[in-house]
Amino acid sequence: MTKRLVIANWKMNGSRALVKEAAANFPAHVAVDVVVVPPSLYVLRLCDEAMGRFEVGLQNVCEHEAGAHTGEVSAAMAGELGATAVLVGHSERRSDRGEDDEMVAAKCVQIVRAGLMPVICVGESLIEREAGDAETRVQAQVKAQAACLQSGANIAIAYEPIWAIGTGKSAGPDEAVAMHREIRKALRAVTPEHAEQIRILYGGSVNGENAPALFAHEEIQGVLVGGASLDTAQFAAIIRAAEALPASKD
Ligand code: PGA
Repeated sequence: MTKRLVIANWKMNGSRALVKEAAANFPAHVAVDVVVVPPSLYVLRLCDEAMGRFEVGLQNVCEHEAGAHTGEVSAAMAGELGATAVLVGHSERRSDRGEDDEMVAAKCVQIVRAGLMPVICVGESLIEREAGDAETRVQAQVKAQAACLQSGANIAIAYEPIWAIGTGKSAGPDEAVAMHREIRKALRAVTPEHAEQIRILYGGSVNGENAPALFAHEEIQGVLVGGASLDTAQFAAIIRAAEALPASKD
């Protein structure tokens, strides 16, 4: 059985108060993996507060191992602090910071080397979807990470259509499922050995209300939640929805 993976991406939001609130209010869960990803300044404090009840991740790490890279943090440092996962390739970093597939691949090398789980974000723009290019675009983004994907199964792919991020316009479950199948096909092509173990998540305007409909599908093995993860009651509802609907093998 594949456990579902529920990830909170706080982006550049949060505070010491939210760290405390999150640690105090997330429900106990056994059948779901939960990772909370705050801004990196809060990672240590959140690891302390979590006391093993959920995992903590980073939103970004440097593509280099160490050295003269002012302002950066390394994957190894993240691991030393107790983080277990790193987001990479998020569309906001691809657009705001110009991170391309090559940069994503370099970061993945560091993340895997540090023994952490890369959560590789992929997704098409509205223009690409309307032009009928969504599948090709997403498959290409997955295939660009072939080296990382061939290195092991402690990896997640988050399908996040750009038009659904922060817009309140979630992809319908059918759209998400169709793309998850395309991603699985791409995984089978590049890494037959690990393709079935790599978890595929959906992200983009997930909230407590639409989560059950997403979790009704076995292809949706988890979610990456932005805005709704800042509301601890909503995020708790998403965790409960993931627990209530049985996880299964894809
Ligand atoms: P959203 O963000 O849930 O606010 O749409 C998701 C994400 O960017 O990971």
